[in-house]
Order: sequence, then C-alpha cells, then structure tokens
Amino acid sequence: MVERLTLTKPDDWHLHVRDGELLRRVVPDSARRFARAMIMPNLSPPIITTELARQYRNRILAAVPEDLRFQPLMTLFLTEETAPSEIVKAKVSGFVHAIKWYPSGATTNSESGVRQISRCYPVLQAMEEQGFPLLVHAETTAPDIDVFDREAVFIDRQLAPVIQRFPGLRVVVEHVTTRNGVQFVQDASPMVGATITAHHLILNRNALFDGGLRPHHYCRPVLKRESHRLALVEAATSGHPRFFLGTDSAPHPRRDKESACGCAGIYTAHAAIELYAEVFEQADALDRLEPFASFHGADFYGLPRNIEQITLLKKTWQVAESFAVDEDAVVPLRAGESVAWQLATGR
Ligand code: DOR
Ligand code: ZN
Repeated sequence: MVERLTLTKPDDWHLHVRDGELLRRVVPDSARRFARAMIMPNLSPPIITTELARQYRNRILAAVPEDLRFQPLMTLFLTEETAPSEIVKAKVSGFVHAIKWYPSGATTNSESGVRQISRCYPVLQAMEEQGFPLLVHAETTAPDIDVFDREAVFIDRQLAPVIQRFPGLRVVVEHVTTRNGVQFVQDASPMVGATITAHHLILNRNALFDGGLRPHHYCRPVLKRESHRLALVEAATSGHPRFFLGTDSAPHPRRDKESACGCAGIYTAHAAIELYAEVFEQADALDRLEPFASFHGADFYGLPRNIEQITLLKKTWQVAESFAVDEDAVVPLRAGESVAWQLATGR
C-alpha cells in the first residue's frame, strides 16, 4: 500500500477565491497545495476588463503567505459588450489567460453573462486569432430543460455549434459532470479539454438528500446520478491528456447556503489534492494522479510544468466543522469528518 506520495506541485485550473476577508482566508489553502490557479471572474460586479483583473490579481497576491509562491492566472468575464480590443489587451497583459463564458443566470453572479452567444462572435474570432482560451460554464438556462439535463443540452445546442464555427479556438468544458460531457470531449479535437472537480468525483446526487436537504452539497452544475460519477472517475483516472484538475472550490458564507434560496458552491480548497488522492487510490490509479493534477492542464494551456513538489501522506485527519469569516462561517466539504490523505509539505 502506498503510504507516501510525492508529486510535482499541481495546478487548480478552476478556482473561486472571492474578495475581501474571505479571499484572505481561502487563498492560503490553495497556495499550500497548488502552484497556480485559474481564477474565476464572477465577482459582483464581475471582472470584465484587463484593468480590473490586474487589480484583483494584486489583491490575491497580497493574500499569499510569504513562504509560498502562488500564481493567480486571471480570467475575464465575457459579456455581450466585451470588445475584441479587450482580448488583445488581455493577451498582451501576460496575466490574463482566458475568458469565461457564463450563460446569463446559470450560476452565482452570472446575470451579466451571455444571453445570445452569436453577439460574441467577433470576440470569439479575436480569441481564435490570438490563441486565447474560452472557458465554458456548460449549462443551458432554458427553463423548460430539466436541471439534470442542462449540461447535455447546452453541449448539443450551444457549445457544439461554437466549436464548429471556431475550430481553432481552445475551449475548456469547465466542471464536466456527465457521461455525455466526457464523451463529447473525448470525441472533440485536441483544442477541447475539460476540468473535473473533486466533489463531482466523490459525490452523486443522493448526497443532496442524505437524511434531509443538504445545502452544502449544492453546486452548479448540480451533482448527477452515480453512472455519471463513474464516467468522471474513469475519465480522470484514464490518463487522457485533455482531462485535468479544476476544483471549482467556491466558498459561500453559511447564511447564504443555509437559506430558503441557497447559493451554489462547495468549498474544497482546504483538502483539494487530498480528496483527489482518495478518488485515485480507490480507483487503483494513484500513479495517474500526477499527470491529471500537475501535467495535463499545463500542457493543454502551453504553460511550463511546475518544478516544486508536494508530498501527501496516507494519514487520516479531521476536517473542521467550519471556519469563521466575515462574522459568519464557511462550512467546508467533509466538515467534521475525515480525509484519508494529508498534505506533508506545502513548498
Ligand atoms: O457551484 C458553483 N459555484 N458553480 C458555479 O458555477 C459558480 C460557483 C460560485 O461562484 O459560487
Ligand atoms: Zn466555478
């Protein structure tokens, strides 16, 4: 049995760190485990310009503990008003690495997202020309579509036509959650990849109703049935180079989660790589964790692989019930329960 696992320091290709006190509390959790993270732009108001991304990046860097190096890779929030010239600015900046397409209303702070993607075609064309990746929240917001079918329908009706129209555009299906999504990425060109979260690898939709309503297991895309979870585990542990780690760690204050209309988002940054290690161990694929967590994403984005390493120990530890922030608290995944792997060194 493997008791100790040393791997190239991984990257988190999909992360929410919020702002203010919450940002200062959560960034160290990610910086201990990851060398870089693709930072989601869905603040309120969203990060829609390179200048806003520059300021946000500085706030994130100020929250990185002195003994750690952590590179926030910034993204811009796509709106129907985004100008192609903003893409050129973003590319030239060197610190903005992608644009995020949120269908309007699909998730937290996405109201100013895209209603009709054809209005963004000039921007997508500029991105294709500039070699600038498009990150996609792949869920339709059509109210007549069952919430569990929203990913599959979005891929068919919206994403596939865009990929066909812009074959040179690099596209990431963020937090893929279904067998259909996995299949779509496998069948697509080398320009199309996908991130997979720890929570979608660990939980199926039963976790939403386990003994009662579980708001801390609510996220978007919503958890799916077991057959889809198994397809995700298979994809993540397969060694396929276009599937890579993206936690979608998304902290919300407890009052916003335990509410009559609770927010989507699961906080996993406190134990992110450890949770993936559990999944890979259970699938008897621990040797595939490093490529998934540390190589595939960097290679897909054309960025250098990291040199630093981290070590994980097969050692059970207890997750706190919650942590205090902003006169409230955040309840992390596995609160009050145990995780089977522990981070030994964060450097
Ligand atoms: O569960 C989610 N939370 N999914 C998202 O797409 C957004 C995120 C958030 O920002 O809270
Ligand atoms: Zn997200």
